[in-house]
Amino acid sequence: MEDRTAKVLVVCQEPEALEELSGWFASEGYSCVTTTRSDDADKLLRSDRFDLVLGDLDMPGLPAADLLALVQTLPSIPAVLTATTLENRETAAMSVEAGADSYILKPFMRKDVLIHAAAALKRPRQVSAAEDQAAREREEEIVFRLLAAIGRRSDETEEHVRRVGLYASVLADGLGWAAEPTREIRLAAALHDIGEVAIPDSILVKAGRLSPEEYALMKKHTEIGANALDGSELSVLRMARDIALAHHEKWDGTGYPKGIVGEDIPECARIVAIADVYDALLSERVYRLPLSEDEAFAIMVANKGKYFDPRIFDCFLRLLPEFRMIRGLMQDDDDLSIDFSELL
Ligand SMILES: [Fe+2]
Ligand SMILES: [Fe+2]
Repeated sequence: MEDRTAKVLVVCQEPEALEELSGWFASEGYSCVTTTRSDDADKLLRSDRFDLVLGDLDMPGLPAADLLALVQTLPSIPAVLTATTLENRETAAMSVEAGADSYILKPFMRKDVLIHAAAALKRPRQVSAAEDQAAREREEEIVFRLLAAIGRRSDETEEHVRRVGLYASVLADGLGWAAEPTREIRLAAALHDIGEVAIPDSILVKAGRLSPEEYALMKKHTEIGANALDGSELSVLRMARDIALAHHEKWDGTGYPKGIVGEDIPECARIVAIADVYDALLSERVYRLPLSEDEAFAIMVANKGKYFDPRIFDCFLRLLPEFRMIRGLMQDDDDLSIDFSELL
């Protein structure tokens, strides 16, 4: 939490009331800016960051709707209290419906004002659409820069992880997931093999078949990735952790690292299993050309209910045209080098 004094803007046309209000706020340790002009409120709100705005709805030129619409456009949305006289209570009540935190009846009373202000400031603040969008873009940039930094040590080309992310979000959407987790799985899925960073190159880029010992070590990338992502408060990283840990689990319980079965495997990981294998089968290996879609399909269909959750697999079949389109738009140009037999 940022440690700063809460900053309050009071917009009210009565100078005595303003003086009183700013004295009360100051006595409670708030930093307070006041104005008697509604057109100043606009300028002040855009030039500084306020935690709370107290707007007197009885002053001309300050319709609640305008004030509330204005704060929604700010990068950091302040709490809003409106104030009015008893006769205008209806207007004040409407302002709450329109998004104000609460309203205060005039004449102002110290206790009343301070209680409402404290309560409004305690409420978690909404994030504006612009800030939300910026946060998403930052999240995305961090994920893909991280992946780029780790580099292309294995077959996990940047195109591969991006495609797996896109396939996963197409599947999540097809399964009826809400918009936010559907957006998140696109990034979370791209981190599925992040644990490979700890696997020696001699294993990771080995062209031939891995020895049992090497394969046992390779399998550890699931737990290593999950450990690296563990404990985050960000839902996208919590999902990424589940995916990293369980993307090699199989529906019939023969996968790794835990051998869990069916719906005990997080749904996000069951989704990524299909997306990852589909893309891997159609990708080139140093020792073979990509499989044709028919060949890849024969393998995948044979694994419905074994490797893959049958319900998600049916969704995958339905959405195949979208998968093909993504594949067509995002081609690999890399040589890949992992033993395909380890995928299935
Ligand atoms: Fe993996
Ligand atoms: Fe992969």
